[in-house]
Amino acid sequence: MMQKQCDMNDVPAIELHNAAMSYGGRTLFRDVGITLAQGSFHFLTGPSGAGKTTLMKLCYGALRPTEGRVSVFGEDTGHMSRDEIARMRRNVGVVHQDCQFVDHLSVSENVLLPVKVSGAVAEDLDANLSELMGWVGLTNLADHRPAELSGGERQRAALARAVILSPDVILADEPTGNVDWEMSLKILNLLIELNRLGKTVLCATHDMSLIRQAKTRVSARVLRLRGTSIELAGAEL
Ligand SMILES: Nc1ncnc2c1ncn2[C@@H]1O[C@H](COP(=O)(O)OP(=O)(O)OP(=O)(O)O)[C@@H](O)[C@H]1O
Ligand SMILES: [Mg+2]
Repeated sequence: MMQKQCDMNDVPAIELHNAAMSYGGRTLFRDVGITLAQGSFHFLTGPSGAGKTTLMKLCYGALRPTEGRVSVFGEDTGHMSRDEIARMRRNVGVVHQDCQFVDHLSVSENVLLPVKVSGAVAEDLDANLSELMGWVGLTNLADHRPAELSGGERQRAALARAVILSPDVILADEPTGNVDWEMSLKILNLLIELNRLGKTVLCATHDMSLIRQAKTRVSARVLRLRGTSIELAGAEL
């Protein structure tokens, strides 16, 4: 069962044990062991093609590792049924790298999609939605179509969609891709605010300046994919 219990505070939000991932015989990484404690903030970095997006997919059960295991709140994703994966994903909000939207729906309808898809019964949904749209600074664009948004507005809409179900974990895959520095800082601030609310955050980024900026404000650790392994990057960042 995926039910969270009071005595589960010590269970890591996400854990990889000796995880390996290959696509068609090509090994991206192996022997990866990482622990994301509840409430921690981690960056995931590494060159393009290193496997950041793939590793995030392992973390929300979209992919299973070719070896080893991945646990979310102590539950092995390899042993979860489709229903259990679906239930677990309500608690893991994902900002996808390509942040796609349904073009014929408004921005706020897109943000609400996870509620519709999960069939979650949400009280005070309208109030929560308007608060969330205000938080990401998109109140005035709520009724617009996604195609009318700038890159930074799209990223913030994607973040709102990722957190509409109040997940305990946020996985953000290059949430500041294609936006300027000022907008990157705004998005970083939103992630830091979520972390201060106690949420576990994993953010994939190429942007070392963003990581340096974050480290002045939050105790973030940096995981770096290098070759086929992962390392904890040190103070040189
Ligand atoms: N479904 C797939 N089938 C086969 N190969 C894949 C698949 N998805 C990704 N790859 C390959 O795995 C490697 C890692 O991809 P991934 O998207 O995880 O990298 P990334 O670190 O997120 O890169 P970027 O920084 O460009 O987003 C790439 O070489 C990619 O081509
Ligand atoms: Mg990627």
